[in-house]
Amino acid sequence: MKLTIIGGGYVGLVSAACFSHIGHEVLVVEKVPEKVELLRRGISPIYEPGLEELLKEGLSKGKLDFTSDIREGVKFSDVIFICVGTPSLPDGSADMSYVEEVARLTAKYMDRYKLIVNKSTVPVGTHKRVERTIKLYLKDKNLEFDVASNPEFLREGHAVQDFLEPDRIVVGVSSERAEKILRELYKPITDKGYPLLITNPPTAEIIKYASNTFLATKISFINMVADLCEKVGANVEEVAEGMGYDKRIGKEFLKAGLGWGGSCLPKDTKAFIKTLEEYGVNAGILKGALSVNEERVSKFIQKLKDILWVIKGKKVAIWGLSFKPNTDDIREAPSIRVIQELLREGAVVRAYDPKAVPNMKKLFPEGEDLKYFSDKYEAAKGAEALLIITEWDEFKKVNFNKLKKLMELPIILDGRNIYNPEEVRKLGFEYYSVGRP
Ligand SMILES: NC(=O)c1ccc[n+]([C@@H]2O[C@H](COP(=O)([O-])OP(=O)(O)OC[C@H]3O[C@@H](n4cnc5c(N)ncnc54)[C@H](O)[C@@H]3O)[C@@H](O)[C@H]2O)c1
Repeated sequence: MKLTIIGGGYVGLVSAACFSHIGHEVLVVEKVPEKVELLRRGISPIYEPGLEELLKEGLSKGKLDFTSDIREGVKFSDVIFICVGTPSLPDGSADMSYVEEVARLTAKYMDRYKLIVNKSTVPVGTHKRVERTIKLYLKDKNLEFDVASNPEFLREGHAVQDFLEPDRIVVGVSSERAEKILRELYKPITDKGYPLLITNPPTAEIIKYASNTFLATKISFINMVADLCEKVGANVEEVAEGMGYDKRIGKEFLKAGLGWGGSCLPKDTKAFIKTLEEYGVNAGILKGALSVNEERVSKFIQKLKDILWVIKGKKVAIWGLSFKPNTDDIREAPSIRVIQELLREGAVVRAYDPKAVPNMKKLFPEGEDLKYFSDKYEAAKGAEALLIITEWDEFKKVNFNKLKKLMELPIILDGRNIYNPEEVRKLGFEYYSVGRP
């Protein structure tokens, strides 16, 4: 089948690359011409494992192409996927201007039947608004179209695998025609046994927010428990293990640490709170989850203060800038608040990340009080404390003897509980982690 993806970001590119990989012909419309330039040469503007290989495969087979011309995109196929951003507005609600713009432009260039599929994460009711916008701006009022909701559940760092081997595909439709097209589109995946859930559009829209905010709540829950564990000498990992054996709870997403960041959980939690309140529904559970999360970094920095007494003038190394491993994405990453607070306290920060340094440099340019390194040991040189902020695999395998020799003081504050406390202490480090005695 032929399809158009509008928005060449994390979701748009992964969807496009994977749809072309399973045999469809895909045209991506991306607003930023520099990104289109790179993509046409098979270079991914973002880091996502396995993505560049699939982009190259699609290009070489003639199954994938890129343009910055939305008119060309709308004419190209009958199935238009909206994959643009829905970032937070200052009041926490989702900024729908990008989705609205795509709906308007799609209407403007429509010349025959179209199925407009919303893959962006959007508040419930957006399908209706997209439908109305298209009707308003459509030149030929006789043209038929459908609007469907097909939320995306991929996890950055595992996105390609998540797309091709999903836990579930959710499709919200209000016509048989739309359902048929979407079933056909996903057939190569559903034929392998991956489940496809067909609902109405508002249900699909809610499934996405309900899933993300449930996960956010689960992490905040265990972080709340971790804070108690620290006060009373209990071990949060064992608490989580004890809870996780209960099949109704499960072991996943019960890792205490610096809390959730990234491009989805924070903004989706804020937006879902807004939606719930708009409809007069008590959003207290999510407000609690948000408030626990917002305290994580300041609690962590307070711990560092307790350890060093004074942070001003201290060299502090940071390992990990991306919001989670295997991505270069730093949107709402805990590292941002860590750097802000350290700089405010007057520390000299030495940061390292395998992929996210270029993105962080745009936010915090290098200066006297902040240096970036291309090697983790270099970053740790002369440091009076090392902070583990992201659990990249390469931090789990460390030459501790080398590290100890390089550091001014052998102090590790581990925000992701990646080391065994006893082992690290035996090697002569002062070691602090989250919710473990
Ligand atoms: N990143 C994730 O892990 C993830 C997972 C599931 C769902 N989502 C949701 O998917 C949506 C997209 O997220 P993302 O992370 O891919 O965002 P992103 O910011 O990485 O990508 C959006 C892209 O759309 C482009 N764009 C904006 N307006 C355009 C237009 N009119 N025409 C063409 N291109 C346009 C932007 O230039 C940008 O490249 C959001 O609603 C997000 O919540 C994201």
